Amino acid sequence: MATIDASFAPGRPARGTDWLGRAATFCYLAIAAGQLLFTAFILLFYYPSALSGDFAAWNTKPLIKGFVPGDAAGNLFFAVHVLMAALITFGGLVQLIPAIRTRRPALHRWNGRLYMLSALALALGGLWLTWGRGTWLNLPGAFGITLDALLILGFGWLAWRSARAQRFAAHRRWAIRLFVVASAVWFMRVGYMAWGIATGGAGIGKAMDGPFDLFLAFANSLLPLAVAELYLRAGARGTPAARKGVAALLALAGLVILAGSAGAWMMMWSPYI
Ligand code: HEM
Repeated sequence: MATIDASFAPGRPARGTDWLGRAATFCYLAIAAGQLLFTAFILLFYYPSALSGDFAAWNTKPLIKGFVPGDAAGNLFFAVHVLMAALITFGGLVQLIPAIRTRRPALHRWNGRLYMLSALALALGGLWLTWGRGTWLNLPGAFGITLDALLILGFGWLAWRSARAQRFAAHRRWAIRLFVVASAVWFMRVGYMAWGIATGGAGIGKAMDGPFDLFLAFANSLLPLAVAELYLRAGARGTPAARKGVAALLALAGLVILAGSAGAWMMMWSPYI
């Protein structure tokens, strides 16, 4: 597979893109492995129950507010949310593969429309689940996920607008940012697991109100966004040293993601399918 982002630095010698490009590919593959496991969990745990109407089955897994008897609207919103979750998670991975962008432009466009639609539905539906249905454990957590929803809506709009105007360099940047914030709920799960493996769970509160919980409530979108920003800048106009530094950061991020994804599969997802 080609790198996910070697193409945005035209004019640079191929050798100069090597380490940054390779590290970006490794990081993408680590994300893909973890997100494929998340997609498998959603397909195997939520799809059968959501599509057959057996909503009560959701509550075999610990949730803040899954199935609530008598709450038809809330249960329906939750069902749509988890059905869309698999589409956006898998669709985002497909959307970033360069060979699909260049060799199957029609697929890229249709998958892109579906991705944007899922992003809109998940952000607006998620806001309703949080504030309308009242699904939250603590206010910082609710504000953290609200910030993520606003970033999804903002970046989604900018990615769509730049694609429509055929400003492809800008479109790529906004699309990468959108992918990062639309992956924040997944980053959160992987982040908890990686942190748990490294520290045994230091700073995690019983009601998810410890210092680490508060940090991750916002870091799930802002930290990967900062890394993506460094990557975009290093690729566009970084010195060789900056490019190597960002390559090392991406390689480290890839390793953390692999560990966190393995932990999430073992602790959060596979026990319920
Ligand atoms: C855009 C990507 C998103 C994906 C892939 C996604 C995925 C999911 C999944 C799989 C669940 C089921 C819980 C689980 O089994 O872990 C869930 C629940 C939920 N999501 Fe999202 N979600 C996304 C965005 C959002 C946003 C932006 C918000 C809020 C603004 C949100 C709010 C919620 C809430 C409140 C629940 C119920 C949690 C519970 O009862 O424990 N989601 N989401």
